[in-house]
Amino acid sequence: MTVDTDAPEADGRNRFVYVTAALAALNGLLFGFDTGIISGAFLYIRDAFTMTPLVEGIVVSGALAGAALGAALGGYLADRWGRRRLILVSAVVFFVGSLVMAIAPTVEVLVVGRLIDGVAIGFASIVGPLYLSEIAPPKIRGSLVSLNQLAVTVGILSSYFVNYAFADGGQWRWMLGTGMVPAVILAVGMVFMPESPRWLVEHDRESKARDVLSRTRTDDQIRAELAEINETIEAEDGGLLDLLEPWMRPALVVGVGLAVLQQVTGINTVIYYAPTILESTGFESSASILATVGIGVVNVVMTVVAVVLIDRRGRRPLLSVGLAGMTLTLVALGAAFYLPGFSGFVGTVATGSLMLYVAFFAVGLGPVFWLLISEIYPLKVRGTAMGVVTVFNWVANLAVSLAFPVMVAEITTAGTFWVFAALSAVALAFTYRFVPETKGRSLEAIESDLRENVLGGSPDGSSAGTVSDDD
Ligand code: GLC
Repeated sequence: MTVDTDAPEADGRNRFVYVTAALAALNGLLFGFDTGIISGAFLYIRDAFTMTPLVEGIVVSGALAGAALGAALGGYLADRWGRRRLILVSAVVFFVGSLVMAIAPTVEVLVVGRLIDGVAIGFASIVGPLYLSEIAPPKIRGSLVSLNQLAVTVGILSSYFVNYAFADGGQWRWMLGTGMVPAVILAVGMVFMPESPRWLVEHDRESKARDVLSRTRTDDQIRAELAEINETIEAEDGGLLDLLEPWMRPALVVGVGLAVLQQVTGINTVIYYAPTILESTGFESSASILATVGIGVVNVVMTVVAVVLIDRRGRRPLLSVGLAGMTLTLVALGAAFYLPGFSGFVGTVATGSLMLYVAFFAVGLGPVFWLLISEIYPLKVRGTAMGVVTVFNWVANLAVSLAFPVMVAEITTAGTFWVFAALSAVALAFTYRFVPETKGRSLEAIESDLRENVLGGSPDGSSAGTVSDDD
């Protein structure tokens, strides 16, 4: 069972992996860009149309609802059409959504554009990590899949810059329309990229899979990896109902638990509302927009740290350190609002804690969630399972985004952050209890562990399939 799919660094095969990864990561960039761009654009959209508060809410969170829908469909489509084709389709949908928003003559059309764009975001959120995890040699899989999350953070930061660039004159149509550019690059690029080898084998195209693998693996590695893929396929019969099999339950608990916890610990209240939060601590508008760019930079930089560490240190340590840090910084952030009066100081403590909070998210829960859900499900249902889990992520995101203003009004900003702090502590306990370590292991070995653990194997999951260790 043990496979050493460790690609020899020296032979240049990894270059192909990196090109593929860079391109697939554009998918993540669009996910980040299209979720971040509304924060600035909305200020001007509000002036351009007459809207009731309900319609305002729909304009802002319509994309999140669309994303939940896209995730629900996307998992199934990724299994049916293939990963590559779904990325192509998502690029086209991104383009259409951005175009519709940019030229929307009425607010109704704008909402339609937001929904279309949301569906593309939902597709992208699943198929990026899925494709990357299946192309990657095990030893660098964590880093490669985390490149997707890195691209998400770069996308968010770019959206802050684009908002800033078009703020003069309130050119919200340009803000929203800019998303068409990466969509075109992604669509053109994907035409030249290969399908995931695992999906090809699953769909009886093994010789094509061999071609794809030969671009990144040696002959011995290919033989071993194909044998392993085939073995897991034979052991399964596939389908949505399989998700309810007893042996799948632990993986579902981990996926759904982390999906919800990633959102209810508050990250997107910061990503979507940072300027508002900072203004309430006494900052001028312009200073708070600048500080928001700072937060975006911290998010990118600390995700780079995660990309570097995730295959060396492992998923569990990063997640634990990140969650412990999030808990402490959220407590501090809440406390900042109780500091006595002179606002410059309060603002500094609040900004400092916000930045540290984002840093701890970026090094752990941000990338580790997306990575784990691309690793822990059996091949037959991987797309479908990721779809289900990702729907939970988007619905939780939508719920928190809608609840945040209400929570602030009811229990104050400080109280809201303390609720997030308590939930971060819960997430830490959850990680300790349920989250498996997947570092350096083949996807097939992770799967066979999952079966053995529930069907009477060792409880610590450290028995089979570890590839030769790197440190
Ligand atoms: C993760 C989250 C997403 C969030 C982003 C922030 O990708 O899933 O909701 O906006 O991190 O970096």
